[in-house]
Amino acid sequence: MHKIFSNGAIFVTSEADMVALGQRIAATLQGGEVLGLVGDLGAGKTHLVQGILEGLGAGEPAASPTFSLVHEHTDGRLPVAHFDFYRMKSADEALGMGWDEYLGSDSILLVEWADRFDGALMPQDTRWLVLRHVDATTRSVALAGC
Ligand SMILES: Nc1ncnc2c1ncn2[C@@H]1O[C@H](COP(=O)(O)OP(=O)(O)O)[C@@H](O)[C@H]1O
Ligand SMILES: [Mg+2]
Repeated sequence: MHKIFSNGAIFVTSEADMVALGQRIAATLQGGEVLGLVGDLGAGKTHLVQGILEGLGAGEPAASPTFSLVHEHTDGRLPVAHFDFYRMKSADEALGMGWDEYLGSDSILLVEWADRFDGALMPQDTRWLVLRHVDATTRSVALAGC
């Protein structure tokens, strides 16, 4: 169950709840949406991604793509490309790996650390998900443009 803050952010009190929120978000996706996940290390971005993938029936759990810049999942209801900008040195590195082609595709793009490079890579219609630590087991998730 998700409580809601007065500022509209959702209060998520366990890892399982974060995955469940991802599943709810997945149900709203129709193809081609770009989701930008923002928040510090350990804020829960990868757990939320895992829930979205589960909700889409995308099979295997999302491995953190920290060591490869993109993981593609094609076995679910919609194709997904999961990015992590954390290890990219520059926006050019993303452009060099075909970012524009991903943007123009029907894939759902799930982007951890989407605010890197001042968010310059992210399109105008990005759905932003801003995650914050509240305490050891609680995170808040604010949705914008969703
Ligand atoms: N409510 C919660 N939601 C998500 N993760 C939580 C929560 N409470 C504690 N955690 C812990 O926080 C960490 C989140 O990790 P992860 O999802 O990889 O974050 P990120 O991708 O933002 O770095 C994990 O160690 C997880 O066990
Ligand atoms: Mg992560």
